[in-house]
Amino acid sequence: MTEKTKTLRSDPILSRRSFDETESRIAFASHPVHAMMVAFPISAAFGTFGADLLYWATGDVFWARAALWAIGSGFIFGVLAGMVGTVELLSVPGIRVRAASWTHFILAMTLLSVLGGNWGLRLGDPVGAILPYGVMLSALCVLMTGLTGWHGGKLVFDYQIGTQRGSDQD
Ligand code: HEM
Repeated sequence: MTEKTKTLRSDPILSRRSFDETESRIAFASHPVHAMMVAFPISAAFGTFGADLLYWATGDVFWARAALWAIGSGFIFGVLAGMVGTVELLSVPGIRVRAASWTHFILAMTLLSVLGGNWGLRLGDPVGAILPYGVMLSALCVLMTGLTGWHGGKLVFDYQIGTQRGSDQD
């Protein structure tokens, strides 16, 4: 194979060293902070849907208040986790260069919008907002959280994003 054919056949992305630089830059004792933080919005989104269903089933306003706190904390922790994820995305070359990272970003932004909308809807009237729109938004939050979380896992397990893929360590 001539030198020219070799150049033409080489993958332009794989030939860039930065492609393998996927190691997290926002990490605590080498554990990515984003991965630690996402547990909070994920559990809050599922908790909100559960509290809405329990309010629907029992009519107990305790569940309406629980749902208000759950969705509010889910939104706030989701934004914080998203800020950390965005810094990773923009600052780590091997994360920035992959289309899959941007797909995760778009899914996450959609999720954060739905979480924020669901919280905003309840602020004036936490009890009256649940049926029917609150519970419907909560179901959408669960769906979007599942999609975003599954895709985040794909980044880590399929693409080794946030891991020490390109380092000398075994
Ligand atoms: C808003 C912008 C976001 C960006 C740019 C982003 C970016 C990333 C990146 C780069 C990773 C790879 C691991 C790392 O480097 O830390 C990741 C993993 C992950 N993300 Fe996000 N993320 C965002 C928001 C979210 C949100 C709101 C959720 C909540 C569902 C989420 C769920 C996950 C999960 C579950 C993982 C896999 C963690 C693991 O298994 O170790 N992300 N994300």
